[in-house]
Amino acid sequence: MAKQEDQFKKVLSHAKEYGYVFQSSEIYDGLSAVYDYAQNGVELKKNIRDYWWKAMVQMHENIVGIDAAILMHPTTWKASGHVDAFNDPLIDNKDSKKRYRADVLVEDFREKISEKIQKDIDKAKKRFGDAFNEDEFRNTNPNVLRRQKQMDEITEKLTKVQEENDLEGFRQLIIDLGINCPVSGSSNWTEVKQFNLMFGTQIGASAENATQVYLRPETAQGIFVNFLNVQKTGRMKIPFGIAQTGKAFRNEIVARQFIFRMREFEQMEMQFFVKPGTQQEWYNEWKETRLKWHLSLGMGAENYRFHDHDKLAHYADAAADIEFKFPFGFKELEGIHSRTDFDLKAHEEYSGKKLQYFDHEENKSYVPYVVETSIGLDRMFLAVFSNSLQEEELENGTTRTVLKLPAVLAPFKAAIFPLVKKDGLPEVARKIMDDLKWDFNVFYDEKDAVGKRYRRQDAAGTPFCITVDHDTLQDDSVTIRHRDTMDQKRVKITDLKDIIKAEVDVKTWLQKM
Ligand code: GAP
Repeated sequence: MAKQEDQFKKVLSHAKEYGYVFQSSEIYDGLSAVYDYAQNGVELKKNIRDYWWKAMVQMHENIVGIDAAILMHPTTWKASGHVDAFNDPLIDNKDSKKRYRADVLVEDFREKISEKIQKDIDKAKKRFGDAFNEDEFRNTNPNVLRRQKQMDEITEKLTKVQEENDLEGFRQLIIDLGINCPVSGSSNWTEVKQFNLMFGTQIGASAENATQVYLRPETAQGIFVNFLNVQKTGRMKIPFGIAQTGKAFRNEIVARQFIFRMREFEQMEMQFFVKPGTQQEWYNEWKETRLKWHLSLGMGAENYRFHDHDKLAHYADAAADIEFKFPFGFKELEGIHSRTDFDLKAHEEYSGKKLQYFDHEENKSYVPYVVETSIGLDRMFLAVFSNSLQEEELENGTTRTVLKLPAVLAPFKAAIFPLVKKDGLPEVARKIMDDLKWDFNVFYDEKDAVGKRYRRQDAAGTPFCITVDHDTLQDDSVTIRHRDTMDQKRVKITDLKDIIKAEVDVKTWLQKM
């Protein structure tokens, strides 16, 4: 645990030191759970967004994008169920005065049991080597069986109190499990209360004329209310998708873990409209496709897992999370939800407008079913950033800090250095830079010794460094150094573009899907 916390602290300080993420309004001591993306962070974030957009929109003929407004007619949120049901169950510890999400307390407790099971498995794996059979071990080891039973019972009880909205039962479950406040260590809990997460604001010049509106808590509703506009103007045939990326806002009360849970964040969502009855098939298909997208970035298959929901949201008939191994454990990165026809039907009912599709093959109209993929851009940023930050022991006994970002996502693809600040070398380096910047985001640096400049770029995540030296003036060659291997090669200036492209091109990465 201490190791995890240390690693997470390193992520936070590195994100600040290398211009990735700053606390919002830091000079006023910040605003809790609100962050700003700095000069490198904004590039990484944009590259993640573009990588998603390319894969989801531009590579699919039947998916188009929109950019709906953040403010929407307030009835939208009544129809969607957010006004009545977008709540978190909160509980306070009377001694520490700290507030927690009741469901998260229980889930974290359950996760600790799961970690113990994993530890037993890892130990046995080491002991038995190749002869180890994990399934058999899970099904026969008494410790694992006991713990698994405990986990299943917790899941069952949690689902029950959530489904029945049994707030007293929720509190009792926390007490029965012996969950104590991590700060005070006591179990002196208040009752559980529901708290709506939407931020409200008002439109209008005076208090009498003001209309209550909300900052959208998800981008999805902007897609639903535009379903027919897009279908008609784009002459879209089912199955088809509408995608968008944009800000969403939630008044998260328990906002911890840096950019993992923010009050203002960005989502990348796609709603896929399908014929009723085919939703299960499409749900499975999108689960698989989305996992492949993640795996294409090469961040380790062992760092992902599916978590099928026990408790379904009010709109879903199936739902799963793609969880990622963050520095604080496996947590939700993306959700795939089979949302049935709930949203379109609700908007039909509240707006009085038909939101139906005429299926020429079937010769009838129907309200399509929807399969949604929804990923938090900031969470994806944290997944990429934390997974990439590594400390390496070098052969000479020193360590280097290197940010091994997938090259396709790196803010700068190459840094260009003149070996010294004289003898015409800066001019040649600038010329190379001016040429490369048409194709890639590149960085120029002439300060300090070259070794120091290499280390700076390693820590900033730049995949290539290009050094111009005195030989360059004779043979039009430069030294290109690779961030991950630290290998250096002498190459012709005219070959630079192809060498960089081969490693950073979106096509090369997405073709791994
Ligand atoms: N339209 C469905 C929807 O919004 P969700 O599971 O509430 O579903 C989808 O959110 C994704 O948005 C999550 O998987 C997560 O990546 C991201 N997300 C949700 N709340 C967030 C928050 N407070 N801060 C950062 N990302 C968040």
